[in-house]
Amino acid sequence: MTRKFFVGGNWKMNGDKKSLGELIQTMNGAKVDPNVDVVCGAPTIYLDFARSKLDAKFGVAAQNCYKVAKGAFTGETSPAMIKDCGVEWVILGHSERRHVFGESDELIGQKTAHALESGLGVIACIGEKLDEREGGITEKVVFAQTKVIADNVKDWSKVVLAYEPVWAIGTGKTASPQQAQEVHHKLRDWLKTHVSEAVANSVRIIYGGSVTGGTCKELASQKDVDGFLVGGASLKPEIIEIINAKA
Ligand code: 13P
Repeated sequence: MTRKFFVGGNWKMNGDKKSLGELIQTMNGAKVDPNVDVVCGAPTIYLDFARSKLDAKFGVAAQNCYKVAKGAFTGETSPAMIKDCGVEWVILGHSERRHVFGESDELIGQKTAHALESGLGVIACIGEKLDEREGGITEKVVFAQTKVIADNVKDWSKVVLAYEPVWAIGTGKTASPQQAQEVHHKLRDWLKTHVSEAVANSVRIIYGGSVTGGTCKELASQKDVDGFLVGGASLKPEIIEIINAKA
């Protein structure tokens, strides 16, 4: 089973029209492997801007959305609005949403269900904290997070699972290729047991956490690593190297 390599850039709350415009120009002009799905996660206020400037071969993702289509929810953005901007993806359950903004598994599950029902693709993030890894409960944590997502998914073809160990995010401490492969393999096994063999074989499991041009190739060579979710390096021309990690 071949799974198409998937590279998401998560710009987080960074950039402005000038710097993001320059980044987009660099991306549009670069030679990128056509066998890779590339999606840029733009700040909500720049979704329209990013979609209008980025070449059509690149996807755009929102970094969050709410769990209903419309209503009195000041400051929130619905999947319907995201789609109305021509944007096809949303990142949900990112560790910063979980740990800075206190989003619960339950809310992430509800958002996942609604985003998928609205026709968005979902990049669903999971990952353990340092004390959880050191306490030997990595599997327990990521399986529990995955279960809540799985309980809310009907069509797995629109879901990418992003394993992002919290201790590796923004720290410069990339997981080793072996550490990433080990968790990705276990997640695939979990999907086989709890969802289906077909889903386990087809769903892309991507890695995030301090991925750079220097670390991407060896990580990409791991059997169960189907791509990346990139933070810091996605704001630099280095993202091209990461997109082309398998080329
Ligand atoms: P960094 O690549 O900056 O560690 O961020 C990873 C991340 O959180 C992507 O969603």
